[in-house]
Amino acid sequence: MNRIEIALGQRSYPVLVGASLLDQAQHWLPLIPPVPLVIFTNERVAPLYLETLRGALTGREVHTFILPDGEAEKSFANYQGALEFLAQKGIRRDACLLALGGGVIGDLCGFVAASWMRGIRFVQFPTTLLAQVDASVGGKTAINLPAGKNLVGAFHQPSLVVADVDTLKTLDEREYRAGLAEVLKYGAIRDPELIELMEQQVTALHQRDAALLIDLVSRSVEHKASVVAEDEREAGVRATLNFGHSFGHAIEALTDYTRFLHGEAVAIGMVAASHLSEQRGLCAAGAAGRLSQLLQQLNLPVTMPADLDTDDLLECMGLDKKNMTGTRRLILLEALGRACIDSDSRDEQIRQAIDETR
Ligand SMILES: NC(=O)c1ccc[n+]([C@@H]2O[C@H](COP(=O)([O-])OP(=O)(O)OC[C@H]3O[C@@H](n4cnc5c(N)ncnc54)[C@H](O)[C@@H]3O)[C@@H](O)[C@H]2O)c1
Repeated sequence: MNRIEIALGQRSYPVLVGASLLDQAQHWLPLIPPVPLVIFTNERVAPLYLETLRGALTGREVHTFILPDGEAEKSFANYQGALEFLAQKGIRRDACLLALGGGVIGDLCGFVAASWMRGIRFVQFPTTLLAQVDASVGGKTAINLPAGKNLVGAFHQPSLVVADVDTLKTLDEREYRAGLAEVLKYGAIRDPELIELMEQQVTALHQRDAALLIDLVSRSVEHKASVVAEDEREAGVRATLNFGHSFGHAIEALTDYTRFLHGEAVAIGMVAASHLSEQRGLCAAGAAGRLSQLLQQLNLPVTMPADLDTDDLLECMGLDKKNMTGTRRLILLEALGRACIDSDSRDEQIRQAIDETR
């Protein structure tokens, strides 16, 4: 088991990464105080892992709130339903919420924890690769509105994250691969060795080798930890975590969030952003090709969908909420393994990068 500290002063917390961690409660149970607990999970994850988690908590006061599966459940209605559930169970400020599931459960449970009685403790048990390497760490919590994803939320750090890589064995193939795109993103923005490792271990990646996954998740969490410790509220360097995301969000939005998983859209976005970086002369030629080759070996998409119009993509990128008003801020590469924040790309150059990705 690896233990990574997220260093945020009084709000610091450990992330535990290992195999069979849900079963081996001795590693994490002592870190959860003897207070009433409320598990948040969904109908897909509950039959797989809820019993194991509940078993580990025998003797504690435990309530369970189970939602239907899906991104659509990260809704205001379910947020309200969860608050009413807590009220009905008499949950007080000393309680602790436990999020057992992917990013949807983590984000919703986190936002409930952020706002219930002005903020209570919560622990993340992420069960998707995306949630283990990204969503469960860093304290961003949110729900969606019909007007857009993640429009309402809060920064609220968990008090512990327990990432059991064995839970990744039951993930759908597509969900797993989409998570690998996020791992590769850390390589592209700050870890050339991680890219080499993934290139060498393509077969083991497909086999979901536990030792390799512990390594990849730990390295990813370390990267997220150091970025978040430096810039908790995304005033600067944290924005580099959005590499591939401006293009990716535009692709997702223009396909109604139904055709691509987030990680798949980010995969295409990373290739487009690499083309733009090369074209701008920020990084040497070959980065886009190498990234694209590895993504393809991982069975991820790398080309811009033919039916998406370049103008529509550009317009959609201008609306990206991560941009500062008035500038189109993009995360580009100085090299494969080193990102930079760029505000100087012209529409024509972005247009060309999109076309190079077709
Ligand atoms: N807070 C953050 O910093 C942050 C970062 C990235 C993404 N997010 C959010 O995370 C969400 C996406 O997360 P996600 O990709 O984990 O999606 P998800 O939570 O919808 O999980 C994907 C699917 O896998 C299922 N699942 C979960 N664990 C499983 C397991 N072990 N075995 C089998 N199936 C399992 C889920 O029920 C779901 O059907 C989005 O809402 C996004 O906005 C948040």
